[in-house]
Amino acid sequence: MSANLGWVYTEKVKDHFVNPRNVLSEDETFEDDGKGITGNIKCGDQMMVAIKVDDDNGVITDCKWQTYGCASAIASTSVLSEMVKGMPLDEAYHLSPKAIAKELGELPEHKVHCSVLGDKALRAAINDYYGRHGMADKVVREEAQIVCQCMNVTDHEIEEAVLEGARTFYELQERTKIGTVCGQCQDEAKRLLDTYIGQHFAPDA
Ligand code: FES
Repeated sequence: MSANLGWVYTEKVKDHFVNPRNVLSEDETFEDDGKGITGNIKCGDQMMVAIKVDDDNGVITDCKWQTYGCASAIASTSVLSEMVKGMPLDEAYHLSPKAIAKELGELPEHKVHCSVLGDKALRAAINDYYGRHGMADKVVREEAQIVCQCMNVTDHEIEEAVLEGARTFYELQERTKIGTVCGQCQDEAKRLLDTYIGQHFAPDA
């Protein structure tokens, strides 16, 4: 383990990193009811989350996962896998990276984007469950919307830039080049920038 973990991560993050809970081992058989895989190539991370669900009440009864991710992705998904057991699907679907980071006692800001891998894979697993169980109407599609037509920048890319550290419109532009041609998208881009900062980083009231 890296010697500099101490100044970056809380004890709880380190505990979940060193002793991750509910990891699906290679030789283990897990009859899942829903499975989601997601990855962030830039980050070098890949995440798989599998769930078992009580069909009678729509509550998650078990959650297993695997990742090739970093310490933050491992710790976040470990704690997520504990949080969702006993949770109704709807509630689990809306579990935010902020709630997970809070449960861990906070993550360094620049690592929050790693923690979204687990909940993205969880949402994919829940959608997979709905698809497999004839509930296609409940599947939530997370399609990206283009905000800047000139530079082809989507709302998902703005959110990603915020998770990677952009806090001002200038920093957002540095990362995405949004609004650098006709400028018509700038108001909407600024509004989304504030929304995502609030969603992921504002302290709870
Ligand atoms: S729409 Fe974004 S610069 Fe033109």
